[in-house]
Amino acid sequence: MLPKIAVTLGTRPEIIKMAPVIRELKIREADFFILHTGQHYSYNLDGVFFEQLKLPQAKYNIEAGSDSHAEQTAKILVGVEKVLKKEKAEIVLVEGDTNSVLAAALAAAKLHIEIGHIEAGLRSCDRNMPEEINRVLTDHCSDYLFAPTEKARATLLNEGIPETRIFVTGNTIVDAVHQNLNIAGEKSNILDTLGVETGKYFLVTLHRQENVDNETRFASILKGLDKVAADFNLPLIYPIHPHSRKKMSEFKLKAPSLIRIEPLDFFDFLQLESNARLILTDSGGVQEEACILKVPCVTLRDNTERPETIEVGANILAGTSAVNIPECTRKMLDRENDWQNPFGDGTAGERIVSIITRRG
Ligand code: UD1
Ligand code: UDP
Repeated sequence: MLPKIAVTLGTRPEIIKMAPVIRELKIREADFFILHTGQHYSYNLDGVFFEQLKLPQAKYNIEAGSDSHAEQTAKILVGVEKVLKKEKAEIVLVEGDTNSVLAAALAAAKLHIEIGHIEAGLRSCDRNMPEEINRVLTDHCSDYLFAPTEKARATLLNEGIPETRIFVTGNTIVDAVHQNLNIAGEKSNILDTLGVETGKYFLVTLHRQENVDNETRFASILKGLDKVAADFNLPLIYPIHPHSRKKMSEFKLKAPSLIRIEPLDFFDFLQLESNARLILTDSGGVQEEACILKVPCVTLRDNTERPETIEVGANILAGTSAVNIPECTRKMLDRENDWQNPFGDGTAGERIVSIITRRG
């Protein structure tokens, strides 16, 4: 008998990275349902990805919405517990490091339901990041740890997690990129809409709490980005997360050279990433995608839980200094884009589904 699987997700990156797993569950006619926590709810952070990636509707939506960390995590914990009990789920799948992930994993662990953590073993070693706490705690209550790389596996072993629970599968973002890049190329007109040409613009994303909730850091990054625009004489396109937009206006920050646009759907964003001269970001998923797409990346943070991108030469840590950001941009522009993708061959979804459906 195939196990009953609860696929939980709640935010933009979880929807995108869980999509290849859901696609495989559908192909194999597995017994599964989608449980949405509602952490993201705006159409351009949520619904648009269900449509483009042709995902079945969520059977449940807890509608946790936005709140303090404790309130949001607690609402999801309570909501997930109710659904798991009602559905008698036997495996709960979670992906990544958000509050939705931690809360769903904790609810399952307390009900003695098996947990599969996709993207296990990532560490920034920075406990000030809410995501780092979520990663560590989720890994330590999971039964199946789907590590994207050997490095992530080694991290888990070092923390005392039994070898038998760890499976190196690659990252499902490679599957998602392979499955959607050509479609994006056919469907998206974003370059024309924005009036930019291949290789003649930079792409920016910036939303991480430790950057945008801190006025000094946010201001310093924006100053660095203005300098990049001036030094290299190229436009900087910034699809801005609603949280960052709110913080920019609250702090009354300006960045005259940034072209701010609404968050993009996946096809437009992939198209803009793959044609950019370089990407500047504090996003986890965008660091990986830049590496996969062979577009140089400058990470606007002091650390990364994706060190593989740096080791292969695809990425550099610029921190938040207005001086370092343009310097690191120059360094990356001088490099050859000839690295190998360290995140697998695009079959992570298939591997994960094979492992959970032959359990026991
Ligand atoms: C969350 C994750 C982060 C992930 C990001 C992906 C945590 C702690 N953070 O950050 O790891 O990188 O999602 O994008 O789980 N908002 C909207 N519409 C929405 C959702 C949020 O406008 O659909 C705004 C609200 O003002 C909200 C703010 O964004 O207060 C923050 O939302 P939240 O989900 O708490 O965190 P993110 O910054 O999105
Ligand atoms: N993304 C998108 N539109 C955007 C910005 C990002 O579709 O305007 C996608 C991007 O391709 C990647 C994911 O969102 O797959 C990354 O999400 P985010 O940066 O919000 O979260 P993180 O990866 O940092 O947790």
